[in-house]
Amino acid sequence: MLSLDVARIRRDFPILNERVNGMPLVFLDSAASSQKPIQVLDAMERVYRTTYANVHRGVYWNSEQSTELYDEARRKIARFIGAPSPENVVFVRNATEALNLVAYSYGRHFLKAGDEVLLTEFEHHANFVPWQVLAREVGVKLKFIPMTLEGTLDLSKLDELLTPKVKLVTFAHVSNVLGTITDPRPIIERAHAIGAKVIVDGCQAAPHMPVDVKALDCDFYALSGHKMLGPTGIGILYGKSELLEAMPPFMTGGDMISSVTFEDVTWADVPVKFEAGTPAFVESIGLGAAVDYLQAIGMEAVRAHEKEIVAYAIDRMSEVPGATIIGPTNPEIRGGALTFTIKDIHPHDLGTLLDREGVAIRAGHHCAQPLHIRLGLKATARASFYIYTEQREVDALIEAVYKAKHTLKK
Ligand code: ALA
Repeated sequence: MLSLDVARIRRDFPILNERVNGMPLVFLDSAASSQKPIQVLDAMERVYRTTYANVHRGVYWNSEQSTELYDEARRKIARFIGAPSPENVVFVRNATEALNLVAYSYGRHFLKAGDEVLLTEFEHHANFVPWQVLAREVGVKLKFIPMTLEGTLDLSKLDELLTPKVKLVTFAHVSNVLGTITDPRPIIERAHAIGAKVIVDGCQAAPHMPVDVKALDCDFYALSGHKMLGPTGIGILYGKSELLEAMPPFMTGGDMISSVTFEDVTWADVPVKFEAGTPAFVESIGLGAAVDYLQAIGMEAVRAHEKEIVAYAIDRMSEVPGATIIGPTNPEIRGGALTFTIKDIHPHDLGTLLDREGVAIRAGHHCAQPLHIRLGLKATARASFYIYTEQREVDALIEAVYKAKHTLKK
């Protein structure tokens, strides 16, 4: 028995009734971007149709309405991730921008040549390239927590890696390729013990499981709204107050100032200091509605559902001759993404053939080329699941894989 009433949930997602290539859409690419329920679409359309005006700037009714809805969205998101206050929540475009913000504002201000940044071998480019650029420009050294053969982090060397030179540790809460769920707490505790700050890339975690940044005690937490039922163009950087207050702004311009004269400028308080220009406030309101939707289901139930789906998918894929599952096969430590290869079929060819059956998966390196180098693979195929995924869609995936194998044999 699945933990969620998926049939009822699916009624909120109009796109799931669409057909692709004459077949019902089987959408298995939610790790790249999730679909949106009518509650999110309606919340945004309501603003555009009834109250829309820029936030903060106007002393008139529409602007006050927008501002109140925007502030309310920030409060909702703060509660959703367990932030002590809405002031700890900076609105950004996506997790990529959140991580760049830290690399620029914290990295370039507080790190110096010879300092070390500890990452993992399975980071998404968004949590890899900003540090590579920092290494080039500032002279910090990058070090990597290695992986086990199973695709989990090998923490046996962590104490050795955590030398006094390490000033920053950054890692994915859930790998977007391997699906590996890493418990951040032991890493955070050990990093803090040597005085390092810790960033958690929560892009593939926050949409899928309960997250409490205060309990984790991480210094920064990044997420993208579009992966958690929200619109594109909105994401979150959570940061501890004392760090956000000490960091210089990432971008400058309107809204983020306290005062500007011909000679000088002072910054607005956190988080506005990091939000130059007209913010994506309608998208923030959409993300607030997405958070309401997820909380009404309950994040424990979301996780339970995905664990059941991924367990089923692992079982079914394991039966397919020539299939190799990449990453852990224990659903307890695997998020809702199943990455795999099929012997003698390039993942892009597989993706194209699956599309003919209406099955949408992602193929390629999933923005994690260094990980693929480590795995000795150029590309992989990934099916990823969410609250609206049904077991019959996993069956459709497996059937389509068999059909692709058959087609390419001819
Ligand atoms: N980061 C997204 C993915 O893994 C785009 O597919």
